[in-house]
Amino acid sequence: MNKTPYTYLICLCALVLYANCTTNTLDEGDVTDLPPIVEAVTYDDDVAPIINTNCVGCHSGPSANAGLQLDGYANVRAAAEQGNLVNRINNASNPMPPSGQLPPETRQIIDQWVADGFLEN
Ligand code: HEC
Repeated sequence: MNKTPYTYLICLCALVLYANCTTNTLDEGDVTDLPPIVEAVTYDDDVAPIINTNCVGCHSGPSANAGLQLDGYANVRAAAEQGNLVNRINNASNPMPPSGQLPPETRQIIDQWVADGFLEN
C-alpha cells in the first residue's frame, strides 16, 4: 500500500495548524487590538510598579545604563516626555527591557499614562 498521500496530508495539516498558532501569537502582541483603558492611569498606582520591576535594575544609580535614571516620577516623566522611553518599550526589534518586549497589556498602560498627561497619583 502506498502511504505517501496520507503522509503528505498530515504534513499539510500540521503546517496549517502551526501557521494558525503563529498568527494568533503575533496578533496578541499588538497593543492596538486591546480594548481601551477606561479608568485613570497614574504613576503611583500603575506605572511605578512596571518601571520598578522591569527597568530600575539597569537604569538607576551612578552606573545607570545609557546614563538614564528611571527611579521616581520626575525621571520617568522626563524620559517619557522626551519620547525615547515609549519608543523603546514598543520597539519590537530593539526593545526595553533588552530581554524582550513587555506584554501588550503592560505597554498599553504606559501609552495611556502618556496620553493622559503623566498623572502622578
Ligand atoms: C538589563 C539591563 C536593562 C534593563 C532591564 C532595561 N534597560 Fe534600558 N538600556 C539598557 C542599555 C544597556 C541601554 C543602552 C543601549 C541601548 O540603547 O540599547 C539602554 C537604553 C535605554 C534607553 C535609551 C536611552 C538613550 O538615551 O538612548 C531607554 C529609553 C531605555 N533604555 C528605557 C528602558 C526602560 C523603559 C526599561 C524598562 C521597561 C529598560 N530600559 C530596561 C539596559 C537595560
